[in-house]
Amino acid sequence: MNSEPRAVVLGEHCAMAQAQPNIALIKYWGKRDAALNLPVVGSISITLDALWTRTRVAFEPGLEQDRVSLNGRSDAAEAKRVSACLDLLRQRAGVNWRAAVDSRNNFPTAAGLASSASGFAALIHAGDSALRLNLSDAEKSVLARRCSGSAARSVFGGYVEWAHGKLADGTDSVASPLLEADAWPLRVAVAITSTAAKEVGSSEGMRRTAQTSPFQSAWIETQEADLATARAAILARDFAALAAISEYSCLKMHALALAAQPGLLYWNGASVECMRRVRALRGQGVPVFFTVDAGPQVKAICEPQAVEQVKAALRDIPGVLDVVETGLGAGARNLTEAEYTA
Ligand code: DP6
Repeated sequence: MNSEPRAVVLGEHCAMAQAQPNIALIKYWGKRDAALNLPVVGSISITLDALWTRTRVAFEPGLEQDRVSLNGRSDAAEAKRVSACLDLLRQRAGVNWRAAVDSRNNFPTAAGLASSASGFAALIHAGDSALRLNLSDAEKSVLARRCSGSAARSVFGGYVEWAHGKLADGTDSVASPLLEADAWPLRVAVAITSTAAKEVGSSEGMRRTAQTSPFQSAWIETQEADLATARAAILARDFAALAAISEYSCLKMHALALAAQPGLLYWNGASVECMRRVRALRGQGVPVFFTVDAGPQVKAICEPQAVEQVKAALRDIPGVLDVVETGLGAGARNLTEAEYTA
């Protein structure tokens, strides 16, 4: 390895990490504590493999403020969130060093593809190594959660459950793996129907929903049963059962948000057509189901043998700009300098 001289140039408090986005099958929507980012409900997700965030964190004792570059650009609002996340690591390490952060995604940021989940999971993972904190995966999940709720899940690979927890300090609101990706290697076709940033971000959407949607209490009351059904379906590799409970959770989350005032309408016409097409395919016996987050992209989850047919069907829909295929992947991990720059 010829990475030694580079490591010296970068300084000794530097590390690189990669994390992948995750897609919730049983949705997180609503916070019981906004400051600590504690959810009102538990959730279950799958971590992807083909999409990634790669992040380098270099703590430099001489630096006056954090320097943040995301996809080669600096954005004040994002930099503020990154600094708040670094503060959690600095607090744990008992240092006040500022850091240079360089992060890039191989997929569109803020287009409903969970860039904050992979972004903050990678940041916590790299920051932990750079400061030699040696945090456990559970501790990393707690810290990632405080930066963006869904990031708690991207610390782990495969099928992951994030518990809502009961403690006021949130130390039990942590994600944990349910099943390895290889144990049930489903495929995902993401239909991109818009590349614009979403109009109402998740945090604001959740706040508005909790304050105004008449369905909020029903959402909370019914979630435990959905989690139990999905957990059992995953452990039994029961595709039909997972399809039914996942579409139910997705549509229930959107019904909840649609009933806020003003209503949160995250779909466009193509999103609706994609959902209808997925249901029509399933009606013909194709093992596929959909889920949609706080944006207009539709994720079609299917058994591997169906993925070409699913992609072709989605590509055919007017308004679908692109279809990205991915499998399920691993959790956050460290990268060498060579892997980071590759
Ligand atoms: C619809 O994790 O982005 O994707 O905690 O406010 O950062 P914050 O929200 P975020 O919300 C994700 C919401 C969702 C459902 C899910 O991923 O479970």
